[in-house]
Amino acid sequence: MKRVIAIYPGTFDPPTNGHLDLIQRGSAIFDELVVAVLRNSEKTPLFSVEERVEMLRHCTKQYKNVRIDSFQGLLVEYAESQKAGAVLRGIRAVSDYEYELQMAWMNRKLDPRLETVFMMPAEAYSYLSSRLVREIMNLGGKVSGLVPPLIEQRLREKIKVAGSAPKKTPRRKNRS
Ligand code: PNS
Repeated sequence: MKRVIAIYPGTFDPPTNGHLDLIQRGSAIFDELVVAVLRNSEKTPLFSVEERVEMLRHCTKQYKNVRIDSFQGLLVEYAESQKAGAVLRGIRAVSDYEYELQMAWMNRKLDPRLETVFMMPAEAYSYLSSRLVREIMNLGGKVSGLVPPLIEQRLREKIKVAGSAPKKTPRRKNRS
């Protein structure tokens, strides 16, 4: 039988319970799931790629078929290097659909063999995003239940290092 390797790409700054919900669902239907953190020199993330990879490794260690990695450049090229046949993306609400559809069409144009598979996270995470988590933390709100305890702790440490004054979180063009 054919083994299907899927890539779950993203920024994961930071990983949320919504991401972890999708990883759990993806690990149940694919033979192998590679969670791939994008190295993007154009953005100034809160956590370095190495920190995000380490946090994701910690939070997914129970899944034997999940691997955490990072990549730069085109997703389709990275997928080919991993021998992946699918890209996994989460759709929380209709508002995600347009951006996701555009990316999926473009990736299909670049590599017609690569299928994009959309999955829905649990309803409880349908309003959750990394951007909102960062914003809530910056403004002194509670994020328990939205991110795993380790990530909450790391967020607290980051905010402490950055200074106790609430900071403005830059608005991102895309959805995460
Ligand atoms: O978590 P995000 O920020 O929504 O993830 C976006 C991501 C990483 C999936 C997307 O930006 C991406 O695939 N970037 C890699 C560069 C690329 O292949 N661009 C063309 C895609 S249409």
